[in-house]
Amino acid sequence: MTAEEFRSQLDERIADAESIIKSFLPKEEGYQKLILEAMNYSVLAGGKRLRPIFMKESAKLFGDMKLLSPFMAAIEMIHTYSLVHDDLPAMDNDELRRGRKTTWKVYGEDQGILAGDGLLNFSMETALKAYESAENLEDHVRIAKALQVLYKKSGVYGMVGGQCVDVYLEGAKTPMDMDTLMFIHKNKTAALIEASMMVGAILAGADDGAVAKIEKCAYNIGIAFQIRDDILDVIGTGEELGKPIGSDAGNEKQTYVDIKGIDESEKDVEAMSKEATEILESLPGDHEFLKELILSLVDRRK
Ligand code: IPE
Ligand code: IPE
Ligand code: MG
Ligand code: MG
Ligand code: MG
Repeated sequence: MTAEEFRSQLDERIADAESIIKSFLPKEEGYQKLILEAMNYSVLAGGKRLRPIFMKESAKLFGDMKLLSPFMAAIEMIHTYSLVHDDLPAMDNDELRRGRKTTWKVYGEDQGILAGDGLLNFSMETALKAYESAENLEDHVRIAKALQVLYKKSGVYGMVGGQCVDVYLEGAKTPMDMDTLMFIHKNKTAALIEASMMVGAILAGADDGAVAKIEKCAYNIGIAFQIRDDILDVIGTGEELGKPIGSDAGNEKQTYVDIKGIDESEKDVEAMSKEATEILESLPGDHEFLKELILSLVDRRK
């Protein structure tokens, strides 16, 4: 696949994800219009839409796509809520996200907190819509399994758990050990990428063995993704990233780069990404685009 072919296939997939996400967003009306605006503001600010894209690509490997769309919107709502809360003054205290003022900067801290809560809850209301497309008992079972994975990986045994350790170790005087850092990366970031790909596979009919391979593949993608995020917080630019650089240092967070240095960190991103593509080889279907996507993230600038 040439670079141009990859770019145009990626653009198609981003447009597809965008239109699916938009189709599930709430109407901005009623007495609570303000929070609905704040929710949509953050979701519509853009972003790479990687999680819904990973979900769909993973589903394509196994075939059946009819239950997928509400879950694609739901994962982006959960991811966006995690960013809205991550940016709050009590957490990373950032004022720029996806090239725009952060939600709390525009709507205030109170509405920022509520917009995150609203998005998390609305993600569940949205994912449950998959039942409207269920045709038989097997479909109901798949949706129930997908819900279990999605909400476990988003919660205290996933993203929320990782964020907890990430913020409480800010400013720690002792050097962070690798096990703790890997706990943070696995949970705050890899968990939602694992959920994306596992949900896609489950809804499309993958068996437990294949779902376990997908989980491992997504784990590698997720860890590599967060290491690259830590690298970009040092060597990136605010214009390209659409979010401030130096946020980690400013918050006295010890990152992968602090422990291993830029060069080793870059090597680890490459190795973990390569391992992810190798796991894909053992799965059915056409993984060419997915492979290109994983490799394109190794030296991403945003
Ligand atoms: C940012 O995620 C938060 C991390 C887990 C590093 P993305 O880099 O995927 O953010 P968007 O969705 O493109 O804005
Ligand atoms: C965030 O990690 C992971 C989340 C669950 C939101 P970061 O705090 O490094 O993400 P950015 O750099 O603000 O996007
Ligand atoms: Mg953070
Ligand atoms: Mg942050
Ligand atoms: Mg970061």
